[in-house]
Amino acid sequence: MDRSTRKLDHIRHALETTDQPFNSFDEVSFVPNSLPNIGYHDVSLATDLGSFRLASPIIINAMTGGAEATTEINRKLAIIAREKHLAMAVGSQMAALRDPGVADSYRIVRKEHPNGIVFANVGAEATVEQAQAAVDMLDADGLQIHLNVMQELLMPEGDRDFRGYIENIQAMKESLDVPVMVKEVGFGMAKETIEKLNHIGISIIDVGGVGGTNFAKVENRRSQKPLAMYENWGLTTVESLLEAESFSQSKSQANVAIMATGGVRHGLDVLKALVLGASATGIAGEMLRLVQTSSLEDCLTAVDEWHHELKVGMTALGVTRIADCPRIPVFVCGKAAYQARLRGID
Ligand code: FNR
Repeated sequence: MDRSTRKLDHIRHALETTDQPFNSFDEVSFVPNSLPNIGYHDVSLATDLGSFRLASPIIINAMTGGAEATTEINRKLAIIAREKHLAMAVGSQMAALRDPGVADSYRIVRKEHPNGIVFANVGAEATVEQAQAAVDMLDADGLQIHLNVMQELLMPEGDRDFRGYIENIQAMKESLDVPVMVKEVGFGMAKETIEKLNHIGISIIDVGGVGGTNFAKVENRRSQKPLAMYENWGLTTVESLLEAESFSQSKSQANVAIMATGGVRHGLDVLKALVLGASATGIAGEMLRLVQTSSLEDCLTAVDEWHHELKVGMTALGVTRIADCPRIPVFVCGKAAYQARLRGID
């Protein structure tokens, strides 16, 4: 199977599998504040993700590129990012590193979003030279390195050897002159993994949890020998945020900025992630669904609505700045709370 067919398969199957029966953000609720003592217009959505100053905590997360047909998707995503001042990541550039003929499907993002924050994206198997080439291709502001072991194992043509990733990540981090973020792709991240990444100096981590796009389902749909029993693999986004809590910038000296992706559906989910210690959130599947089914104008309106939903919640809770969100009291119930207790996280 060639890479460009795989890219298109991912888009098609991702859209069919985003509608998850369970979303961990539904296990989180707020303690209301009847005397917030602020106004809606006092609320600012600016946030710091590590050294990145972002106008919005919503980031269009890594999805695509690498096939002719993905250029239009990346163009539309980049226009949304530009118009709404969102940072944006491209999908894995490994395809363009092996076949420079498809590089324009990624470069379109920098062309349409010339002054915005753009992240390059490679796998943890990339060499330092490949990582640098991915950054140069986009004049990127940062590099995302994705971890997707279960996806690779379920992918018929996927990787089977995962040795040396941490050393590779460290080499990329030490050689590049842009910040490096390590991300999961929807299987979540445990505190042991975060600890290892923190230990080698990674200071931005996207916990990318279960709840939205399900790459086990996506790959099973592409496979002649699907392993359906792995479709519930991993930690949800809320569980991952609880795992990350002791490392998050707001709570510790470890100084890891946390990003939360995986099943973010609207502004209230964004708020829940911020209160649980994330400095920013990523949206992938929901953004893809939007650009594939709606006009550009409707996509821009949808982002305005997410921002409005977030500001409504921040106003009701009495917080004017995202940096203050982790101080908000919150209830976590159900599986996330039970599992956190078993893991010794309170
Ligand atoms: C992705 N994602 C992804 N991530 C990555 O680091 N490199 C990649 O190439 C891709 N490719 C990709 C394709 C498609 C079609 C989708 C929908 C997603 C993963 C993405 O960045 C994110 O981590 C997950 O999709 C979980 O977020 P959502 O979709 O639940 O918001």
